[in-house]
Amino acid sequence: MTESTEELDAVERSNQMWGKRPDMIVRGRVPFNAEPPAAVLADGEITALDAFYARNHGPFPDIVPEQWRLTIDGMVDTPLTLTYDQLRSEFTAHSVVATLVCAGNRRAELLNVHPIPGKDPWAHGAISTAEWRGARLGDVLHAAGVHPAEGLHVAFAAPDVAPEAVPVQSYGSSIPLTKALSAEVLLAWQMNSQPLPRAHGGPVRVVVPGYIGARSVKWVTAITVQPVPSQNYFQALDYRLLPPDTDPDTAAPGEGISLSSLPLNCDILVPDDDAEISAGPLTIRGWALAGDGRSVARVDVSLDDGRTWQQANLEPAISRWAWRQWSITVETQPGPLSVTARAWDDTGVRIACLDDGPGVAPEDVERIFDPFYQGRHQAPGARRGSGIGLSIVREIVQAHGGTCRLLPSERGAHFLIEIPDASPSTTA
Ligand code: MTE
Repeated sequence: MTESTEELDAVERSNQMWGKRPDMIVRGRVPFNAEPPAAVLADGEITALDAFYARNHGPFPDIVPEQWRLTIDGMVDTPLTLTYDQLRSEFTAHSVVATLVCAGNRRAELLNVHPIPGKDPWAHGAISTAEWRGARLGDVLHAAGVHPAEGLHVAFAAPDVAPEAVPVQSYGSSIPLTKALSAEVLLAWQMNSQPLPRAHGGPVRVVVPGYIGARSVKWVTAITVQPVPSQNYFQALDYRLLPPDTDPDTAAPGEGISLSSLPLNCDILVPDDDAEISAGPLTIRGWALAGDGRSVARVDVSLDDGRTWQQANLEPAISRWAWRQWSITVETQPGPLSVTARAWDDTGVRIACLDDGPGVAPEDVERIFDPFYQGRHQAPGARRGSGIGLSIVREIVQAHGGTCRLLPSERGAHFLIEIPDASPSTTA
């Protein structure tokens, strides 16, 4: 057996072990990190359990529901310890359809611009949508006697140990108390009507719709209301938007902005990168997500690098907290094809990215480079363009005083950002 066959077998076994489809792209076996091929995500608005991406920083804890305990303490009147049965029987169950997206989704495209040592090259699949069911975190916090106040934080702790953390520590994170008390934030025990799988945090995880996936802590065992954000590595040092000149390895805890609320974004799922396409009718599919409860107002697609645009068909919104899938059928001509998508949210903010723009100014891309930056992919044949996170846009607009034109990477990409923008016209 050759080494690559052995590796393929091992990948297949890890997909099988965690109940995943055999074609999941495994980025790591332990901890298990895997994403579905992009086209699988376009199959439906709810992602099947066997296709839902898995993002983990440590090996999975193995906690049976009977052994699971959840403590709620800190700035509450009555600290509590709940069993699995108490959580399910003493609190009303609610369902929320929500998209989870990892802040590292599409990092592979960033790696075309800049190396990111030690980080997985996620393609388009570190995003998925499920129907989650569980108790409202707010109800549990109220039962513990929380006093709603601005400026407080709710920290989550889990037992899985992350070897990459400095120092090595178990996973944790936090969200503002104001978000924690919102109706959409759940302590979920079900996913798509099934008991929450171990790979996705079973028996119970936090689901924070509208925030980056990192805040939806799996296997949660402790919740603390406190005056400051969590000091856990994954809150204080990782998943942050750092100033462009800061070295992530030497950044101080708390430096930069903690990633939380999701920015407006969109992506193209079909056709795949580098796909060979016959000339003629082509249905292009993708998603758009406005983030934190806002809605997607419109998606356009261009086949000529943004000179002309056609409006895509948006599927009806299934939830305030979920992506909206879109599609458009276009006529393609022989020769290379460049596809660009842009989306607007209901505040009129637009996000766009164009392939193949003129000129080269790599330092502009360097300026905006950070782990949350969403780039585009360029290759001969079919190409795609897509959005850039609004957190980046904010930073750029501060630096550029209101409008921004981000000129190319060394590979010739051309990003254009204008915010806010009432008029939809744009040129490269
Ligand atoms: N919770 C724990 N305890 N450990 C983890 O490694 N990963 C986080 C989050 N919650 C993580 C965690 C990250 S980075 C993401 S994107 C989501 O879980 C992924 O959830 P999923 O694996 O169910 O898709």
